[in-house]
Amino acid sequence: MKKRITVLPGDGIGPEVTAEAVKVLEAIATRYNHEFIFSFGLIGASAIDIIGNPFPKETSKLCKEADAILLGAIGDPKYDNDPTAVVRPEQGLLALRKELDLYANIRPVTCYDSLLGKVPIKAEIAKGVDFVVMRELTGGIYFGKKGKDKDGESAFDTCTYSKAEISRITELSYSLAEKRNKKITVIDKANVLETSRLWRKTVMEIAQNYPDVLTEFMYVDNAAMQIILNPKQFDVILTENMFGDILTDEASVIGGSLGLLPSASIGTNHAMYEPVHGSYPQAAGKNIANPIGAILSAAMMLEMSFDLSLESSLVKRAVEEAIEKGCLTKELQDVHPSSTKEVGDFISSFVLNEMCECV
Ligand code: NAD
Ligand code: IPM
Ligand code: MN
Repeated sequence: MKKRITVLPGDGIGPEVTAEAVKVLEAIATRYNHEFIFSFGLIGASAIDIIGNPFPKETSKLCKEADAILLGAIGDPKYDNDPTAVVRPEQGLLALRKELDLYANIRPVTCYDSLLGKVPIKAEIAKGVDFVVMRELTGGIYFGKKGKDKDGESAFDTCTYSKAEISRITELSYSLAEKRNKKITVIDKANVLETSRLWRKTVMEIAQNYPDVLTEFMYVDNAAMQIILNPKQFDVILTENMFGDILTDEASVIGGSLGLLPSASIGTNHAMYEPVHGSYPQAAGKNIANPIGAILSAAMMLEMSFDLSLESSLVKRAVEEAIEKGCLTKELQDVHPSSTKEVGDFISSFVLNEMCECV
């Protein structure tokens, strides 16, 4: 199989973790005789530095031409610490998601058995957790009208949703729930927000077409607590853009590290794969960041964009093996941690040879 993959390493740890994901994709190509053609583009702070634009036209073109996109992360403290900056790295990522209409951000959350006891949550609560957050990605408060008054004394952001925007991710969520444990929990703030009430009404209508799927509604404040208290109650979580952003960072605590979580951002014509974490600037250049979120994002690409289920399963198996053998970066292992590169080497050599020792 021949596929074009556009890689957007971005900022901070983005280049380090995407390098390991590319290494693993190359190992898959070698082992199964595929041809993956990689093109690299600028995005975020590094694109502002070089071109003055966080989502340059050239990058947009590379993304539209590709069969799939792999993104590292964007963001830099010089913008985080300057609320007056007019051009910001995050605008690049948001523009990319909007321009390619990547409306569904699929974020699976699991806990590996071999990490039980190492994760901050009690083993009996974390063991067997397996849910997917379906986060709407191109609407809501991120993209509504925003502004500030002339003297800078007041500012506003608007949360807007249309029925069409809610319907398409809802349909996708029900088809996923049908293939899983047939339960959807819609997380909203319908006791306060008009947009949440439109979500509830729209979901209730669509739910009638899926009688075998159980639909529940939960307020986001309660959900933030339930995710830690009793995460096994969830199968598919369906939620709007900002709630999905916040709840998935929270949910990453169940598995032990934000660095482990992958995601797929899907539209009708394009798909991008990106770890859930950000540019983690404190770790940039230190070879300590966990590359597994990026590597598992590449595994999602193999399965969802290229229909290569066997190859995707092998990458996931290799990740499990790395974790079981204790080939872990330092946030998961204080004593003799592995580096970013060592974890990537372990996983790619497992993919190539099926058996290997942790370096
Ligand atoms: P972050 O996700 O970069 O880091 C938060 C914390 O999570 C870190 O301090 C670290 O403890 C942990 N962490 C994150 N990635 C890890 C990894 N691969 N391995 C091990 N531990 C990891 O979030 P932040 O500090 O709030 O934001 C930093 C910058 O990243 C900001 O500029 C923000 O806008 C940006 N950001 C970008 C994305 C993205 O590109 N998709 C996502 C979130 C944040
Ligand atoms: C994410 C990030 C982004 C978001 C930021 C960097 C715009 O937090 O991908 O989770 O909020 O969507
Ligand atoms: Mn986030």
